[in-house]
Amino acid sequence: MDTKRISSTLEEALGQQMNVELFQSHIYLSYGIWATDKGYGGIGNFLMRHSQEEREHALKFMQYVLNRGGKPKVTAISEPGEGPSSLSDCFNKVFQHEVSNTEKIYNLVDMAMGEKDWATWNFLQWFVKEQIEEETLAMDLIDKLKIAGGDQATDESLFNLDKDLGEAEDDAELARNATSENP
Ligand code: FEO
Repeated sequence: MDTKRISSTLEEALGQQMNVELFQSHIYLSYGIWATDKGYGGIGNFLMRHSQEEREHALKFMQYVLNRGGKPKVTAISEPGEGPSSLSDCFNKVFQHEVSNTEKIYNLVDMAMGEKDWATWNFLQWFVKEQIEEETLAMDLIDKLKIAGGDQATDESLFNLDKDLGEAEDDAELARNATSENP
């Protein structure tokens, strides 16, 4: 008896997204290495922790496809490419990668809706919310560096930024959690 509960189209698309998340993990790892090599150990640690989070995203896609009776295919992961040219370039690239990933998630939501596959649509809502957090986190990085003085920041403010990010929360504050006591 065929117990597969996902279309071949969505099985393939979600499998591809698993590989996209692994690529994201690769990107963060390479940027983490770049930052650490430049002497920003705290920023490097932050980015490497995020690399792990991206791998967890990949595993969620893997597990979902398996749960629905499909089989995701692991493909080769592209090289992350040239390292960033500066801290602001690094954070801008992080933001661009997240926006591009959000677009891919929205496309999957669209496909699930087109097929009236509400189980997959529901599964993807976790990622819709997660991408709000991911984009906010990336915007926070850009803002923090801007406040520190951007690429003209003094050694002292970069030292403090590096220390802060080494100890920073891995999740950004979301609007849905805001209260009057803690806006
Ligand atoms: Fe898995 Fe940063 O998106």
